[in-house]
Amino acid sequence: MHLYRYQVFSVWMVSGTDSETEPKLRITLRDLRQYDGREGRPCYTAYGGKIYDVTGSNLWKSGRHAGRHNSGEDLTNIMVNAPHEESVLQRFPVVGEIVPETLRNRYVEALKNLHPHPMIVHFSEVLPILAAFFVFIFHLTRGSEFETASYYMISLGLLSSFGCMATGFFSWSVTYERTLTTIFSRKIILSLILSVVVTLLFVWRTIDPDILTRSSALTLVYAMMIYAAVPVVVILGHYGGKIVYG
Ligand code: HEM
Ligand code: HEM
Repeated sequence: MHLYRYQVFSVWMVSGTDSETEPKLRITLRDLRQYDGREGRPCYTAYGGKIYDVTGSNLWKSGRHAGRHNSGEDLTNIMVNAPHEESVLQRFPVVGEIVPETLRNRYVEALKNLHPHPMIVHFSEVLPILAAFFVFIFHLTRGSEFETASYYMISLGLLSSFGCMATGFFSWSVTYERTLTTIFSRKIILSLILSVVVTLLFVWRTIDPDILTRSSALTLVYAMMIYAAVPVVVILGHYGGKIVYG
């Protein structure tokens, strides 16, 4: 699973394809470093802007070549010292090309390393559950402070669900190249449902502060919407865990 994540991670800037099926990497020199041939990672070397996969070569075992050069690096300038011509590389597949490091890439990389989605998901997970919990306690005790607490949880849940969606889309774009797998389509649908439900609850309770303290059919609808958000966030969390841990 780690290898899978690592491979997916590494193709986040894929854009072109040489053949219909084989995607080519378009990565910066910084990203090339992870293909160092160690611990089962692929062994890539850059020469003249192209990235060669030398994983199968006995002369690049564990990412070291000729006892002094490391894979995951651009060795273009080293070739003049080599006892062979660049034609040795022709035996190995070109798996991508080096792209220049832009300011935007650098910011995207820095933001990605902050892991904004895993950071914010915990709020989106817990706030709707707390909102339902306080409504439940309100139903048991009729204490209005629990109803108020539930409203606060919904308000914060509204903020975090939009933050969660935004960071989720960010992670999906930069790490998974917006590949629409079943898990991602389900996560998108469920988080849209969650955002709509939480927005409706927030607007409704703001316009009508007595909605839960009254006894009407609408009160039941309001309470049911709060309870319905719980399985939605639980399933979202489950799918999130599946993405990360398999
Ligand atoms: C001082 C630098 C280098 C030394 C001493 C060195 C040494 C060698 C030697 C002794 C061989 C085996 C003989 C042969 O196939 O001709 C070899 C093969 C090879 N070298 Fe280098 N090399 C150097 C630099 C480079 C660089 C800069 C690259 C690529 C960017 C490179 C890529 C290769 C490849 C792909 C092979 C063929 C491996 C195979 O067939 O399994 N080498 N090198
Ligand atoms: C409110 C909505 C969402 C919730 C509650 C949620 C929850 C989670 C959780 C709990 C994880 C596991 C984090 C970890 O253990 O490190 C996760 C991971 C992930 N989720 Fe979401 N998610 C939501 C929306 C989305 C959306 C809309 C997308 C994009 C389509 C998305 C994409 C991802 C990705 C790519 C990961 C893997 C971790 C990463 O690369 O940042 N999520 N999510």
